[in-house]
This record gives sequence, structure tokens and C-alpha cells, in this order.
Amino acid sequence: MDSEAPIGIFDSGFGGLTVARAVIDQLPYEDLIYLGDTARAPYGEQPIAMVREFALECLDHLVAQGVKMVVIACNSASAAVLRDARERYDVPVVEVILPAARRAVAATRTGRVGVICTEATATSQAYDDAFSAAPQVDLLTAACPAFVPFVEAGITGGPELLACAEGYLAPLRDAGIDTLILGGTHYPLLTGVISYVLGERVSLVSSADECAKDVYAVLTRLGLTHDQPREPSHRFLTTGSPADFEGIGHRLMCGIVVGVEQFA
Ligand code: DGL
Repeated sequence: MDSEAPIGIFDSGFGGLTVARAVIDQLPYEDLIYLGDTARAPYGEQPIAMVREFALECLDHLVAQGVKMVVIACNSASAAVLRDARERYDVPVVEVILPAARRAVAATRTGRVGVICTEATATSQAYDDAFSAAPQVDLLTAACPAFVPFVEAGITGGPELLACAEGYLAPLRDAGIDTLILGGTHYPLLTGVISYVLGERVSLVSSADECAKDVYAVLTRLGLTHDQPREPSHRFLTTGSPADFEGIGHRLMCGIVVGVEQFA
């Protein structure tokens, strides 16, 4: 494998930029190719078989670009292809679900863990499967479909979002969780309101941050990192409108997303 090659990051749309951001923070000299399937997003509302088909098609394209690793930044896509993506590709595959589950097992004191995610991720039961080796954990899952449109509209505060967060999170809080997995790409941008509703006693586990740590660990283990200071090059591809991607991307990534390319 070529350590000079870029890291490929795939998401259903814009949300995976939270993962790209975490990877850039931890591995600042790596080149990235990010592919967002915005034309077919949101994945979280679609049947898991369809998410699987879309995700494998996009991942095939990313691997064909000669990346040294693929990162499945999307929780719904990770849930859909978790079982076979590793067998399908020669390059290492890192996804978001298993690293977040591992961190939650290490973090919980009471064994009561919550996960918030899309409908697709919830119905796939991928998080339940990820915790099967930790029978001491009692996992409570809440699908939070309305969070994604809030974030994409640039809304991360205010009374409407707070009411929505109360509705989703109060049952988890009342059930006594002490750890919450942010099992969706957009949720790291909502940690303010989520912490406000749940209180400081609940630890938040960001699947984006845990995934980026896994990217670091796997590349380091394989001797594939760029360690010397250099100016990296990042490419952003979208199946939808480059202008929309650039607009939302600019908001989410503070100027890192420029020159978005159309990907057919
Ligand atoms: N990227 C998706 C996820 O993390 C959220 C957005 C969508 O539904 O496409 O599950």
C-alpha cells in the first residue's frame, strides 16, 4: 500500500465532514478525498438494503481512486455494510460504529448506555450487535430523525431545537443512562444542546472522534502515515450540487471545504 495515497472518506452527504474534521485534527498532513452522496441522502430514512447498495457503489468509486484507506463516516452506511466492507476491499476499512461502542464500554460506570442515531441505524440493530460482546451493557436506542435537518439548516440552538432534544433525550435521561453515543454524523455539532438536556453526569461519546482515533491507529500500525509537516491536499466530491455542498460545508468546516467537484 502506498503511504503517499490519500485517505478516502465516504458519507451520505455533508455530516461526515465532522469525521473529516476529526481526521484532519489528528492527522494534519494527510491528503483526503471525501465523497458525499448528497443526491441520494438522507440515508437514515431509507431501507437498509438500499443504503447498502448506495454505500457499496460509492465505496467502490472511492477505492478506485487509489486511496490507502476507506473511512465509512456515515453511521447508517456503516450499519448497512459493516459485515462485508472489510472483505470486499484490499485497503483497510474503518467505520464509525465499532470504535464508538468500544469507547462506550470503557466509559460507562453503570452499564446503562444510550445511542442516538437515524431510523436506518436503529432498525439495523448494528449497535446492539456491536455490544454483543459486552453483556453487562444495557443499550437504549433512540432514533432522532429531526436533528439532521436542524444542523443542515445551520440551527444548533434555540427553543425549537431544545424542545426537539427534550422529546428525544428525556426518556434516555429518565432511564438513567450515564453514557450516550452520538451515533450520527451530525450530532457532534449538537453537543451543546444534548449536554444541556442530559446534564454533566452523562458522558458523550462522539462516533466521529472515535473513528478518527481508529484511522490514526490503523495507519500507524501499518506504517502508512505522513509524519512530516507538509501542505495536504483535500478533494471534496458530491453526487449532488457542488454549490450546496460548498455552502453547508463552509459552515460545518470553517473554510476547509473549497472547490467541490461534481461526481456523477
Ligand atoms: N450520515 C447519516 C448517519 O450518520 C446521517 C444523515 C443521513 O441520514 O443521511 O447516519
